[in-house]
Amino acid sequence: MFSLAIFLAFCLCFVESQFPRVCTSDAAFRTKTCCPLWKDKSPCGSLSGRGKCRDWIDYTGRTLPMYNDDRLDWPRHYYDYTCECFGNYSGFDCGDCKYGYQGENCDRKKIIIRREIRELSPLEQKRYFSYLALAKTTKSQDYVILSTGDRHHRETYRFVDASLYDIFAWMHYYSMKPILINGSFDSNKNFAHQGPAFPGWHRLGLLFLERQMQHMTRDENFALPYYDWRGEKNCSICTDELMGTNDAQGVLNPYSHFSFWKAICSGYNFPDEYCPLADAEYKMERLHRRPGLTPYAPNLPTFEDVENSLKLENFDFPPYNETALHSFRNSLEGMCKGKKK
Ligand SMILES: *[C@@H]1O[C@H](CO)[C@@H](O)[C@H](O)[C@H]1NC(C)=O
Ligand SMILES: *[C@@H]1O[C@H](CO)[C@@H](O)[C@H](O)[C@H]1NC(C)=O
Ligand SMILES: *[C@@H]1O[C@H](CO)[C@@H](O)[C@H](O)[C@H]1NC(C)=O
Ligand SMILES: *[C@@H]1O[C@H](CO)[C@@H](O)[C@H](O)[C@H]1NC(C)=O
Repeated sequence: MFSLAIFLAFCLCFVESQFPRVCTSDAAFRTKTCCPLWKDKSPCGSLSGRGKCRDWIDYTGRTLPMYNDDRLDWPRHYYDYTCECFGNYSGFDCGDCKYGYQGENCDRKKIIIRREIRELSPLEQKRYFSYLALAKTTKSQDYVILSTGDRHHRETYRFVDASLYDIFAWMHYYSMKPILINGSFDSNKNFAHQGPAFPGWHRLGLLFLERQMQHMTRDENFALPYYDWRGEKNCSICTDELMGTNDAQGVLNPYSHFSFWKAICSGYNFPDEYCPLADAEYKMERLHRRPGLTPYAPNLPTFEDVENSLKLENFDFPPYNETALHSFRNSLEGMCKGKKK
């Protein structure tokens, strides 16, 4: 239960984590307020009962003075006032619904069905890859990325206009970059992996991408497909129709969908900049993929591996990292190193 509470605390803050474009004005930073007006012209839709602009200083007090990593105090490092949304409402301005709800008043349950990618018809597969291509090139209306390294001097802030997919990729990058303690990175610590946040954080990240793609395409029933890799000898979806074939160096076949995709950030030990390459497109790196060559996970899990993981009754155990034994979370991450899971 304790670990569950921790992971919820971590993940809820990160997923809404890039900067709402409307909250990047001088006034927003000066007043440390990110409570945008909703359609009813009130902050956080408060007149319509959707939420309220909450003062988090009074609520949680001051925090964590010995660290200087902005993520440990998100979003308080930037804003003392943000929207608290009521009931089924959600989003930085409470203009959206919580995942799983829909409708003007967010009072209808929303159920979408995620399917195995190989079970989609050729037309559905084609639609999926064209949606992804669109997400990779469509600028996000709602969010921007703060690429500046020095997060303590507002006058140095530089925001990058990024595509919907790049915002999603950036959130992943931003959370897994090692923790900054007194100006140096501790590469043993990572907010997204090798710890209790792993499953919940990634689930929320994918829900975010799915929702953004639903809004972008106005296809409200769009569902991300999944890959059921149980019992697979190799990556059988690494074909040019699906994820793409690659050469020995991991370069994707130019005739596959993602071969010309570039990552907005790669590497994460830049001493002072979060993402120095973000606004220099020519410097961005091509995607590489070499399935089966990760030393700790040389092969895909078998049916038996999955059954054994599901038998683990406890979500996580101390020390809550990759050495934890009998931990469902650690087994899910594939960190049990071939030991009986
Ligand atoms: C960071 O530096 C300050 C001042 O030098 C020190 O008091 C503090 O213990 C350090 N914090 C950590 C986590 O190392
Ligand atoms: C949230 O949605 C559920 C399911 O439709 C509904 O029963 C419930 O009343 C809603 N909650 C609020 C606070 O509107
Ligand atoms: C994966 O394995 C199948 C049969 O097990 C084989 O036909 C296919 O060529 C392999 N694909 C790759 C990319 O190695
Ligand atoms: C896991 O946590 C233990 C206890 O804090 C620590 O000694 C060990 O170095 C950690 N292992 C890794 C790989 O971070």
